[in-house]
Amino acid sequence: MTLRILSPDPENVALAAEALKRGEVVGMPTETVYGLAGSAFDPRAIERIFAIKGRPAHNPVIVHVAEPEALEGAIEGARLLWLERSRVIDARGIAPEVRRRVEALLSAFWPGPFTLVLPRHPAIPAEVAAGLPSVAVRMPRHPTARALIRAAGFPLAAPSANRSGHVSPTTAAHVAADLGDRIAIVLDGGPCEVGLESTVLAIEPMGALRLLRPGGIGRRALEAVAGCPVEPASADAAIQSPGMLEVHYAPRKALVLLPGSAAELDEAARTAVRDRIAGDTRAVGLLVLSGVDTTAAAAFSRIVSVPVVARSVSWSGDTREAARNLYAALRELDASEASILFAEPCRDDDGLGRAIADRLRRAGTPLTA
Ligand code: TXA
Ligand code: MG
Repeated sequence: MTLRILSPDPENVALAAEALKRGEVVGMPTETVYGLAGSAFDPRAIERIFAIKGRPAHNPVIVHVAEPEALEGAIEGARLLWLERSRVIDARGIAPEVRRRVEALLSAFWPGPFTLVLPRHPAIPAEVAAGLPSVAVRMPRHPTARALIRAAGFPLAAPSANRSGHVSPTTAAHVAADLGDRIAIVLDGGPCEVGLESTVLAIEPMGALRLLRPGGIGRRALEAVAGCPVEPASADAAIQSPGMLEVHYAPRKALVLLPGSAAELDEAARTAVRDRIAGDTRAVGLLVLSGVDTTAAAAFSRIVSVPVVARSVSWSGDTREAARNLYAALRELDASEASILFAEPCRDDDGLGRAIADRLRRAGTPLTA
């Protein structure tokens, strides 16, 4: 199979929608990361998604929805009812006060990088949810994702469009690099605006909220809208969100997480860095979270005494910019001549900053000084 990277004009969106109606899967841009989309009602399409990604069957996928054009603006406050009518969720068991809380969250954060786990409608095959009674639902705001869902006429199940465990794609070229020999179409919606996967929040039976995956929408923002505390994922996260336990978002090379920026490492950390570098190492990679590549590379090469390939995700230390550039930088370092990668830590600790720290923690191992 040869992948066609298509501009997202109406003819190509229609072409992709026709493929989806035949049960095929296509690459879809969203504002977070690119998705590998198939009909959320079609078990064959779901099976294809898992096979193409090499994704373990116990890791459920997110269902993407878009309200019809005629309802745009009118659906505010009635999204649960609409999701029920659309045969995505089964809202019968949700108490009225919990409904109000959920509607408030959906009004505040949809369309956008926000995924909510709700009771699953029987029309959504169990495979979508890895057999769980729930379903994760998101309304993306990327215009091409919305256009594609509307043209298909059904919700789209879509995990990130990377090989399982690998770094998520934030450009059509990334999708091509991972899945170019396995899918026929990716719509090119440009580089993703957010760059990290959505925040995943679960509503527990009694209405308590649990953050299953940190993303662009931070815990404080969620609490302010919901008017109640948001619990962190608990120790049995494997049951709540099986995907959270996998080694994830990882480059192919070893990634070592530094305790501070290259310029501020103490002697013990410097020694630990040198210990991690084998004798045959020709060059090392450095992911710079804040600051200029060349400055950080100069500081780090004084420690490692081999050439340093540095990639900065934000010269000014802006967290949004860092999130947007993170995965592309990891992919570039993976493709560079460096044989081992080091990453500086992210300083920001809510919202996107927490999400960046979470992804780095899953992708790498700490430098044990
Ligand atoms: O931003 C995103 O969310 C992107 C774009 C494509 O929308 N999608 C994405 O999908 O990141 P994926 O499959 O890579 O991650 C889905 C996450 C996993 O951590 C999974 O465990 C969790 O959502 N999840 C899905 N369904 C769930 C469910 N029923 N209960 C709990 N967690 C669920
Ligand atoms: Mg993924």
